[in-house]
Amino acid sequence: MCGIVGYATDPASSNSGALDVVLEGLRRLEYRGYDSAGVALQVDGQLWTAKRSGKLARLEEALQASPPPASATGIGHTRWATHGGPTDENAHPHLAGDGRVAVIHNGIIENFAVLKKELVADGAEFLSQTDTEVAAHLLHAAFSRTGDLTEAMRLVVNRLEGAFTLLAVHADVPGTVVGARRNSPLVVGVGEGANYLGSDVAAFIGHTREAIELGQDQIATITPTTVDIVDFEGNPVTGKNYHVDWDAAAAEKGGYSSFMAKEIMDQPQAVADTLLGRYDVEGNLTLDELRIDEAVLRSVDKIVVLAAGTSSYAGMVAKYAIEHWCRIPVEVELSSEFRYRDPVVNARTLVVAISQSGETMDTIMALRHAREQGAKVVAICNTHGSTIPRESDAALYTHAGPEIAVASTKAFLAQITACYLLGLYLARLRGNKFDDEIREIVGQLQAMPDKIQKVLDGLEQVRTMARWMADTRSVLFLGRHVGFPVAMEGALKLKELAYIHAEGFAAGELKHGPIALIEPGQAVFVIVPSPRGRDSLHAKVVSNIQEINARGARTIVIAEEGDTDVVPYASEVIYVPQTPTLLAPLVTVVPLQVFACELATAKGLDVDQPRNLAKSVTVE
Ligand code: F6R
Repeated sequence: MCGIVGYATDPASSNSGALDVVLEGLRRLEYRGYDSAGVALQVDGQLWTAKRSGKLARLEEALQASPPPASATGIGHTRWATHGGPTDENAHPHLAGDGRVAVIHNGIIENFAVLKKELVADGAEFLSQTDTEVAAHLLHAAFSRTGDLTEAMRLVVNRLEGAFTLLAVHADVPGTVVGARRNSPLVVGVGEGANYLGSDVAAFIGHTREAIELGQDQIATITPTTVDIVDFEGNPVTGKNYHVDWDAAAAEKGGYSSFMAKEIMDQPQAVADTLLGRYDVEGNLTLDELRIDEAVLRSVDKIVVLAAGTSSYAGMVAKYAIEHWCRIPVEVELSSEFRYRDPVVNARTLVVAISQSGETMDTIMALRHAREQGAKVVAICNTHGSTIPRESDAALYTHAGPEIAVASTKAFLAQITACYLLGLYLARLRGNKFDDEIREIVGQLQAMPDKIQKVLDGLEQVRTMARWMADTRSVLFLGRHVGFPVAMEGALKLKELAYIHAEGFAAGELKHGPIALIEPGQAVFVIVPSPRGRDSLHAKVVSNIQEINARGARTIVIAEEGDTDVVPYASEVIYVPQTPTLLAPLVTVVPLQVFACELATAKGLDVDQPRNLAKSVTVE
């Protein structure tokens, strides 16, 4: 939520100017929030600022109409509104000290009302409804006392409560940007004669792949040639350097009409990359990064998966697989609910925190609560160095590459894949599965990228259907067993992208209420389990299709190749390759993603930046 960029280079160097670098960073971070945008640049001992409500393009138009003078140091912000509506006044940067200090902010300053009252009593004039503006006034006051921007920032952050990343430039401190973070992301980019600050590495990936991870409660001061980090007590700190393993091309659309369309097509690679290096030539699992004492993992008597939104559906798939393979009870809980119900968690609980961004505040707070109760936490995360893996006992990274579209697709498939790996690892460690059984499932997993590709290659039918269903007002999704989370995910994708009422149900629940919704023409997707599976589930779901077909529903059935039982009751059948039941979500969800993306596009909507949403939800 909110994207932040800072840049400092030497004006005499051949590096790009501040405006170009900051705008490029904002373009790559716009997925984090797109209510308004703004920049502040150091120009000849003054600050030059511009900000606009609306998408970044509005700010860019304004800058083209009246371009600023050349600058080598600047900051930029793209906003997801919390305090104060998305207006020009509430857009960042916020200024103080007669425009000599500029501040941008991601997060929420919880005690801003008290601070504002104090500042107003001292004569400060406020121009916006934001919480951020208090930080600008406090920084101005602290700098007036200390004459040192880093120390002034330190004094300010010690007065703030809540979650924040703050970046500041001051007209009297040329060539310097100061950033601070608490419970909100900030990374440093290290370049040649230039340094960068960003909400994530996408902010500077076009210029450098060398980064420094900042810890909790730290302040980074960058100049063109130096990076200094201190903690909130002022003690020097050494940041953790790392190399970003993807490049700028991975964060481009690559010829696709949207990031989402590209990311859907990236899915075979995302799954293959998440598997890569995690088994040896014989198919034995090697999860070296799972640095939790094996004795502790053997003694675990319960697993709790904590996640939000799409990631929680990956957790639901994990429950079916891990319980089946490991015989350990698995609970899946929405992060936002977890700590408020006094959950039973202790040293024998293994918590699995799943998050694409690694910055979801609900999940951060839930995992902190779990650790306080003595649980060990494994993070499954797509963003290197983000808060969730840093605060966990071990991290299993998904290698989906940068996910820019707000709606998650490839990260979801990579999360499911990582959950399977974790489940198999625990099954072997705890003696629930023999090596040859594990190798067989690893072999099935290795086949999944090709199967996903096959689904992607045959989706013209889904695209055509989505286009002529553009006026649909309501779509239902039914699934059973691992098809249930897939149904939930299909409904979420349609809601968030196409703004259509959509609901996912467990197919067995239909008769307990939802069947009342069925009327002639009602579109219903049904995810059908494999006829080769056990427990006659297939027959039961086929009966469900018959029941809704008899009541006039338009049944769109996702079934395994060769399943002819569904044909008489299906308005449309979308076939996916034959796949072992537990792994089926990796193929069955793909047509649902494509359907939502195509239908939203047909409605003329922006699939990468749906209304009211942001990619990384850093507020509770
Ligand atoms: C939906 C979507 C969200 C996220 C959720 C959790 O398409 O992307 O529901 O899955 O906000 O985000 P992460 O995984 O970053 O914790």
